[in-house]
Amino acid sequence: MNRNDIRIGLFGFGVVGQGLHTVLERTPGLRARIGRIGVKDRSKTRSLPPELFTFERDEVLDDPALNVIVELIDDADEAYRIVTGALRRGKAVVTTNKKMLAEHLQELIELQRQTGTPLLYEAAACASLPVIRNLEEYYDTDLLDAVEGIINGSTNYILTAMHRDAVTFAAALARAQELGFAESNPALDVEGLDARNKLVLLLAHALGLVARPEDILTVGITGISELASSYAREKGLVIKLVAEARRLPDGGVAAAVLPTLLRPEHELARVHDEYNGLITQSLFTDRQFFLGRGAGAVPTASAVLSDLSALTYGYRYEYKKLQQQSARALAPAAAEVDVLVTFGQGHAPERADFSRIHEYFHSEQQGYYLTGTIGLARLAAAAWLRQPGISVVRLPQPLRAAQAAPVASAAEVEAADCPA
Ligand SMILES: NC(=O)c1ccc[n+]([C@@H]2O[C@H](COP(=O)([O-])OP(=O)(O)OC[C@H]3O[C@@H](n4cnc5c(N)ncnc54)[C@H](OP(=O)(O)O)[C@@H]3O)[C@@H](O)[C@H]2O)c1
Repeated sequence: MNRNDIRIGLFGFGVVGQGLHTVLERTPGLRARIGRIGVKDRSKTRSLPPELFTFERDEVLDDPALNVIVELIDDADEAYRIVTGALRRGKAVVTTNKKMLAEHLQELIELQRQTGTPLLYEAAACASLPVIRNLEEYYDTDLLDAVEGIINGSTNYILTAMHRDAVTFAAALARAQELGFAESNPALDVEGLDARNKLVLLLAHALGLVARPEDILTVGITGISELASSYAREKGLVIKLVAEARRLPDGGVAAAVLPTLLRPEHELARVHDEYNGLITQSLFTDRQFFLGRGAGAVPTASAVLSDLSALTYGYRYEYKKLQQQSARALAPAAAEVDVLVTFGQGHAPERADFSRIHEYFHSEQQGYYLTGTIGLARLAAAAWLRQPGISVVRLPQPLRAAQAAPVASAAEVEAADCPA
C-alpha cells in the first residue's frame, strides 16, 4: 500500500470512526481518504454525504477501489465477520475491537499466516499508548517478566471521579459515556471484561501466550465496598483497576484483573481520569512506564492512524514472543495473591481457602474485613467471590509464585472471631 494512496473502507462512524475522520483531515503526511463507510442505523443523520454510507457489509469488502479495511464498530460478532472477510479477500485490516480480538486471537493469528494479510490493532490495547508495536519490536529480544497496568480508561475515569471528586458511581459512569470513553455495553468496562480482553492481547505480545479471556481471573469495580474504600483512605492507599500478568519462575504465567490497593508512590497510583498506564518489567531494562490517554475519539483514532501508516511500509505483527514460546501457559494454581476481603454478617469468605490470614477486623458500623494470602486458582473458583456483600481488593503486593502454606496458619487466626 502506497503512502500517497490509502483508500479506506471504514466500518463504524461513532466515537472512534468520527475521530478517525477528524485525525485524517489534520494529517498532512499521509494521503488517506475514506472511500466508503459501513454503518447500521438507517435513521441516523450523518455529518458526511449520504452516498458515502452503506448498510451492506459486502459493498465495502468487495469494493476493488478500497485497499484497506478499518473496523471501528461496537458489535464484536459483526466485527469478526468483517475482519475475517477482509483478511480472506487479501485486504489489510486495522481494528480497535479488543473483545473480538481476545475471543478469536489464535484463529486470527492463523488467518494472517494463511492469507499473508496483515491485521493491526494498536488502539485495541490502551488506545493512544504505543504498546503493542513496542512489545513486538523494541522488546523482541528482551524477555519480559511482567506487564502491569491500568488499561481501561472508563473505570479509571470513574474511580478518579468517585475518589478525588466525590462523584457517585452512576454519575461518573454517565459522564464517561457522554465523553465517549465508555463501551456501549458498560458492563464490559465496570466488570473488568474490557481490561481482561486487552490483557489477552498484552499476554500474546509481551509474554508469548495466547490465553482464553475466560481463563483470566477478573473482578470489576462495581463491588468495591465502602469499607474497602475507607480502608484505603486510612492507610493512604488508592484503589485502581489493575491488570497484571507475571511470569512465574517455572515458566507458567499468573494473570488477573483486580481492583488493587496501590501505595501513592506507585506509578499507577498517579494515573488519573481516562488515562492508561502500563509498566513493563524485564531482565535487561528493569521497569519502564507508558502513560497516555486510554480512551476518547481522537487519541484512539491517532493509534489507528499510526497503524495505517505502518501498513504503508509493509508492517505486520510477527508474534515474535509466540515464536520464542517464551511463556508456557496460564498457571493460576502455581500463583498466589494478597487480598483484602470485606463482608457483612451472613456473607463470609471461606477461611479454609486462604493459605494465610494476616489480619481480621470487625466494626459494628462498617462490617468485617480480613486480609490474607490465597491461591489465584482458589480465589477464581471461590463461590463467595461473586456473592453480593463480599468485596475483594488486591493488596499492594504483586502476583507471585505460591509459597508452601505455613502449617495451620489460617487456623491460627482465632476462628471464633471470624463469622462463619
Ligand atoms: N471509544 C473509545 O474510547 C474506544 C477506545 C478504544 C477502542 N474502542 C473500540 O472501538 C470500537 C468502536 O467504539 P466507539 O466508541 O466508536 O463506538 P460507538 O460510538 O458506539 O460507534 C459504534 C459504530 O459502530 C456501528 N455499528 C454497530 N453495529 C454495527 C453493525 N452490525 N454493522 C455496521 N456498523 C455497526 C454503529 O453504527 P451506527 O452509526 O449506524 O449506529 C456506530 O457507527 C469498539 O470496538 C470499542 O471497543 C473505543
